[in-house]
Amino acid sequence: MTRLVNKVAIITGSGAGIGKEIARSYAKEGAKVVIADFNEEALNATVAELTAEGFEAFGVKVNVAVEEDVNRMVDDAIAHFSKVDILVNNAGVGDQMQAAANVQDATWSRVIDINLTGVMRAMRKVIPHFIENGGGTIVNMASISGLTGGRGGLAYTAVKHAVVGMTKNVASQYGPQGIRCNTIAPAQIATNFAANMQDMDQFGLEVATRGVNLMPKVGTVEEVSNIAIFLASDESSLINGVALAADAGWSAY
Ligand SMILES: NC(=O)c1ccc[n+]([C@@H]2O[C@H](COP(=O)([O-])OP(=O)(O)OC[C@H]3O[C@@H](n4cnc5c(N)ncnc54)[C@H](O)[C@@H]3O)[C@@H](O)[C@H]2O)c1
Repeated sequence: MTRLVNKVAIITGSGAGIGKEIARSYAKEGAKVVIADFNEEALNATVAELTAEGFEAFGVKVNVAVEEDVNRMVDDAIAHFSKVDILVNNAGVGDQMQAAANVQDATWSRVIDINLTGVMRAMRKVIPHFIENGGGTIVNMASISGLTGGRGGLAYTAVKHAVVGMTKNVASQYGPQGIRCNTIAPAQIATNFAANMQDMDQFGLEVATRGVNLMPKVGTVEEVSNIAIFLASDESSLINGVALAADAGWSAY
């Protein structure tokens, strides 16, 4: 359990779900973790839990859709822990499975602002610091909807494809400066993610879940965090710019 010793990691959306488990698993591997979430109660509870377990955790309230928040998140992390080595862009929301003909502008904007612009701004802010420090690692959270066409709504599918594209762009352009950027593309994982979506588009839901009976299993947050540890650690030093499907082979069919 020493794969991330002396590393400092920011994990967005780490007050719950996948992000919270990534934070805990990174801390277990020796990292100091920055719990970044816009749900203040959840982030405070996560910091308290991890601290009680003997880990070093620092909380920052951030809405990743707000530029000043994202910049402050990185500045506060550096001020608190002196540096940042790992950025996990995990915070994300769903799009009510809205199919193309039913996309609501408000949903489109929200999904773009949080799941796409938030990721861009966090990378834009942290990359100069990584370069100054001689390198760093970014782990983005895409989705199987970033690799396939019909398993989510239009906005969610569009932004997760864009996250895969940004990942490859950053990896190829900043790899020579010691920066690795990879993305995880999970299928369904047991969290509150789906339950957090109200007013589902019934047509979109029906067509997006047509193939769900072929999904071998619903994943756990631990199964995703195992991949996130690997991608953040030196064990994956030869891997840059990949989108790793975490779907038990669902998209291989
Ligand atoms: N659960 C799944 O089935 C699944 C599958 C594929 C991909 N993903 C992706 O994994 C990531 C995490 O999902 P999850 O299942 O853990 O979701 P979740 O809803 O359980 O947790 C998301 C966390 O992100 C926080 N968050 C949401 N919007 C935010 C914002 N604007 N600023 C800061 N924090 C914000 C929430 O407060 C929450 O703590 C998302 O990017 C999601 O798209 C999830």
